[in-house]
Amino acid sequence: MLYPLSYVSVTRCSLARFSLRRQRNGTPSAQGQRAEWESMADPLHSVARRLAPAFAAVAGRECDPVVRPSDRADAQANGALGLARELGSQPRAVAEAVLAAAGDLSDMLASTEVAGPGFINLVLRDGFIARELGAAMAEPTLGVTPASSVRTVVVDYSAPNVAKEMHVGHLRSTVIGDALVRMHGFLGHRVVRENHVGDWGTPFGMLIEHLVDLGEREAAHELGMGDLDAFYKEARRKFESDDGFKARARARVVALQGGDTETLRLWRTLVAESTRYFNIVYRGLDVLLTDDDLAGESKYNDLLAGIVERLDRSGLLVESDGAQVVFPEGFTNRENEPLPLIIRKGDGGYNYATTDLACVVDRVENLGADSLLYVVGAPQAQHLQMVEAVSRRAGWLDEHHVFHHVAFGSVLGSDRKMLKSRSGDAVKLAALLAEAVERAGAAVAEKNPEMSADDRADVARMVGIGAVKYSDLATDRVKDYIFDWDRMLSFDGNTAPYLQYAHARICSIFRRAGLERERVRTVVPILGDPRERTLAITLLRFDSAVHEAVDTASPHKLCTYLFDLATGFTSFYENCPVLRADDAVKTSRLALCDATARVLSAGLDLLGIRAPEQM
Ligand code: ARG
Repeated sequence: MLYPLSYVSVTRCSLARFSLRRQRNGTPSAQGQRAEWESMADPLHSVARRLAPAFAAVAGRECDPVVRPSDRADAQANGALGLARELGSQPRAVAEAVLAAAGDLSDMLASTEVAGPGFINLVLRDGFIARELGAAMAEPTLGVTPASSVRTVVVDYSAPNVAKEMHVGHLRSTVIGDALVRMHGFLGHRVVRENHVGDWGTPFGMLIEHLVDLGEREAAHELGMGDLDAFYKEARRKFESDDGFKARARARVVALQGGDTETLRLWRTLVAESTRYFNIVYRGLDVLLTDDDLAGESKYNDLLAGIVERLDRSGLLVESDGAQVVFPEGFTNRENEPLPLIIRKGDGGYNYATTDLACVVDRVENLGADSLLYVVGAPQAQHLQMVEAVSRRAGWLDEHHVFHHVAFGSVLGSDRKMLKSRSGDAVKLAALLAEAVERAGAAVAEKNPEMSADDRADVARMVGIGAVKYSDLATDRVKDYIFDWDRMLSFDGNTAPYLQYAHARICSIFRRAGLERERVRTVVPILGDPRERTLAITLLRFDSAVHEAVDTASPHKLCTYLFDLATGFTSFYENCPVLRADDAVKTSRLALCDATARVLSAGLDLLGIRAPEQM
């Protein structure tokens, strides 16, 4: 027999078993080792699971029904087309055979019809949608299926450099990383946050000397205020123009590496003051990072010698131009010569890459990582590829380990060049966030002049910060995006304010009705109007939206979904009166409103964005 009986039934427990079986046999996908249609709540997935045995019976093997959204029906199954090619038969005949093998589907589907070259158009039964929605909304996850196998996922993100202003690239890393941390946690994975701050290396010689020149109190003040760029630039200027300073800076690096107590103390001051500033930005941004998540480059110092030794023992380490390097296969420079990953320089110093190798070992061997996510800008792609290649060659990563460079593009100004402040300097993130809140305050005051000043201040923070984060998350992360205040703060379009407004609007419906939202929570909705049906189906797709976003480390997929949901809600609300409807319909519509608000708020929360109850 091809399938265990449990596979055919659609109870949740049998599906869990099914997914385990698939995992062992199938090739793992990026994150989750799930079949494409394994999500529980998504009705398209339910249909796919239901049709799979029929397809298998016709195919004589496991066969994906390829269920997709359709504009002619609720969904269409396209699997017969490929299968017919394979079997050398007519696609329409294969589709008919599948339907015959499927037997009675009437509990789930109102109609099935073979159409065009061999699609099967599928219309869901209203009662089925309503029942599924009731079940999904009764779950704390709102129908989102927990991961079928729990992984330890280490997320490397944010990673600004000590005594240097965080730039917008660090903003992207922080915001995207925070969303990935939340989404993985929501699916039940064990998530370890690591903030790999740049807190070590040769620049610290000049930075410490500059600190000494300024006096510790003054330096601490400057850094703690977020004047990191001025501090760094001044140190650099002296280093380049003053030979005496340069000599002191060099000696300081040696003292730092040698573990000199006083030097280490000064270094710690630099780190602590910068961290204080980073924390102001993190709190302003509403991200989860705390000091407990710091895993800076310095943390790996003691492991570096061991890395060299292990690479040497495995025969990978070679001498090249006086340095110790590894040549991972497949990497060449412009002259087509093999490209080395430099492990130890001629002067005995270690490299950024050596630290990253130590990081891999620490994450795998000490933290038990199954997946390593690096939320780092696209320009570091080759560096990370080489780190992965060497780690795999050295046997530190095996085929079950996922090493994923979650790359992202640049933030551009309206001139399509790298975003800069008016003075041409790097944009100060703390100032950028303050401006976001201020602009949002003005937008909210215009929209709702009656709101009290206190409420407005709270809402402005949620909307302003939400707008900045959402505009970063909403486009495919690998693309560049243009930082545009007016667009991100607009109440129309794929923006945080639009989603937040839909949520606040629902809260206000309940306030006007004088009803607690919990009161309608167990109501199974009546789906009379096509807009109600569409909204209900969209609500059930939250499940696959979260999974797809996690599987591809692409928060924008969740954004697109939430925008669809809010649009679906707007169209429902404009066409289906809620408070003016008869009792049964009113209760049902209120239940749809409540479900929408819950999914919007949960979805925004996964993106690290708050949903105010009024706007
Ligand atoms: N501090 C680095 C930078 O600002 C980013 C570090 C990324 N993480 C890593 N493990 N290499 O470019």
